[in-house]
Amino acid sequence: MRKPVIAIDGYSSTGKSSISKVIAKKLGLIHMDTGALYRGVTFFAINECSDENGKIDLEKLFKKLNDIHLEFKKIDEELILFLNGNDISKEIRTNEVSGNVSLIACQKEVRDYLMETQRSIAQKGGVIMDGRDIGTVVLPDADYKFFLTASIDERTKRRFLELQSLGIENSETEVRENLISRDKIDSERAVAPLKKADDAILVDNSKMTKEETIDYILSFIS
Ligand code: DC
Repeated sequence: MRKPVIAIDGYSSTGKSSISKVIAKKLGLIHMDTGALYRGVTFFAINECSDENGKIDLEKLFKKLNDIHLEFKKIDEELILFLNGNDISKEIRTNEVSGNVSLIACQKEVRDYLMETQRSIAQKGGVIMDGRDIGTVVLPDADYKFFLTASIDERTKRRFLELQSLGIENSETEVRENLISRDKIDSERAVAPLKKADDAILVDNSKMTKEETIDYILSFIS
């Protein structure tokens, strides 16, 4: 039997990735965190395509896109992102990457470049993919679509704790401002903006635990 294709979109720090990871395990699906791919390109751009003032040179990045080889490798049941053979799973979570990723994610060239990687994974079914435009653009024919949201206070708290657990120190104000700014850029960009697909189920998990959100999503999947 063909396994389902599930699209999970929504705002930053609504738990999309950690929730998708658990659902993938329960249903025997592959989980793909597409935000990590945009973060991987951003990490590359910061290191390889910055001008003398530290500003990312987008034209330079577009010319070098074919030098970027991103792949997920399964290590101890975790999918770890590698860029050109190097584990960059921690580096893509820094404030510097978070502060630049929306600029990179609104470039059509970058989105087109990452489209193939995303679609090829879903071709055989059996995948849960989380991001911003999965239900609307990448996998419009997904079997199930969900759109996650939560209050800014709750999301700030979650991101702050996540960064702390990774040993990355930020003030709550910094985390909150980064979230607000990314929400704005992601929702207002011309190419593939963050928005709920018409046929996606809206899940506001401000007052739900991770486990409750998982059970709620699973209740729709037959
Ligand atoms: O899920 P995340 O916070 O790691 O995503 C990082 C950024 O990547 C986010 O600001 C928006 C962008 N993104 C996107 O534009 N499209 C996706 N499918 C996934 C992420």
